[in-house]
Amino acid sequence: MMLLSDGTKVNFPYSDNRKTSAAGQGNADTSGRCAIGVRLSSLRGVGETEPATADEVGSPAELADLLDRHAYLCDEGLATACFLALRMGRPLFLEGEAGVGKTELAKTLARGLGAPLIRLQCYEGLDASQALYDWDFPRQLLHLRAAEAAGVSDVTRLEGELYDRRFLLARPLLRALETAPSVLLVDELDRADDEFEAFLLEVLSDFTITVPELGTIRAERPPVVVVTSNRTREVHDALKRRCLYHWLEHPTFDREVAIIRRRLPGAAERLAGQVARAAQRLREHDLLKPPGVAESLDWTEALVALGARDLDPGTAAVTLGAVLKYREDQQRVLGGLGALLGGG
Ligand SMILES: Nc1ncnc2c1ncn2[C@@H]1O[C@H](COP(=O)(O)OP(=O)(O)OP(=O)(O)O)[C@@H](O)[C@H]1O
Ligand SMILES: [Mg+2]
Repeated sequence: MMLLSDGTKVNFPYSDNRKTSAAGQGNADTSGRCAIGVRLSSLRGVGETEPATADEVGSPAELADLLDRHAYLCDEGLATACFLALRMGRPLFLEGEAGVGKTELAKTLARGLGAPLIRLQCYEGLDASQALYDWDFPRQLLHLRAAEAAGVSDVTRLEGELYDRRFLLARPLLRALETAPSVLLVDELDRADDEFEAFLLEVLSDFTITVPELGTIRAERPPVVVVTSNRTREVHDALKRRCLYHWLEHPTFDREVAIIRRRLPGAAERLAGQVARAAQRLREHDLLKPPGVAESLDWTEALVALGARDLDPGTAAVTLGAVLKYREDQQRVLGGLGALLGGG
């Protein structure tokens, strides 16, 4: 159900398709309703994957707890930014190096809230017809042919019918406005052309989309929005102003060990510690692509797959491709693996 600017409520004829496509992630709730009505604290240890509504999350600590139960470990800063985004109904703008957990946060939030994740992957050349909506040209044509065959002669009426809601294809941004609750992930915004940000402004500030032929479409209940960027270019201030901003750092050593252990329960604590320490040290090198959490996990997984009990220089050398993806980076550290892995 959507609200047009004149207050008319409209049912979407494509609602079934929409729910199917929006529900692509995990235990997404495709019913369009909130799942349960109990306090988070009372869920602890009971239903590990039981979702909560955004309103039930009472504090940053409760949010961290919810994410933790879905295997995402965050620090107080991220938990606070994320909690405030939920509480204030503002988009969360996340920047950080590759592999620090920006995309995963949105995915986990959707799982924790039992809401479908609607993802808009940004790329160069992304335009409104791919991000907002498009008219279903083949169906419009079929409608015209059918009308012609039926001998319809009222051209004005026919033209009006062509721009009916049933011929409107909802792309991710529109789909997010019409799906409540939902988590909208606008991923890697810095990859899109900066003109694209103008489209986002209306959506993120008023949660409305204007379709000239139809009017302004308004979300009855705004989605939770996470915008991510790797900062390959600066995003405009106008857009940032509408968001809460958080720079996602690489995790501390202890948190990285905990993440590895949580994500890869088969990895021994000692091995997880050795990988995390090596990853932390690699980040201090002047590398083209320092390893993120994703690479630490890949490295650990590779070591576990090989049955390695320790990360020694020999094992590190043959598995370096799991953590460093540039030849220059590999060459830079290969000679000093002993020092990299040495010490406590
Ligand atoms: N805090 C965390 N808790 C648990 N797992 C994490 C955390 N941070 C990262 N990860 C893991 O690291 C992987 C990579 O994270 P993610 O894809 O979200 O990184 P990213 O910041 O979006 O990177 P990129 O900029 O390359 O897209 C995730 O699939 C997840 O397994
Ligand atoms: Mg990402």
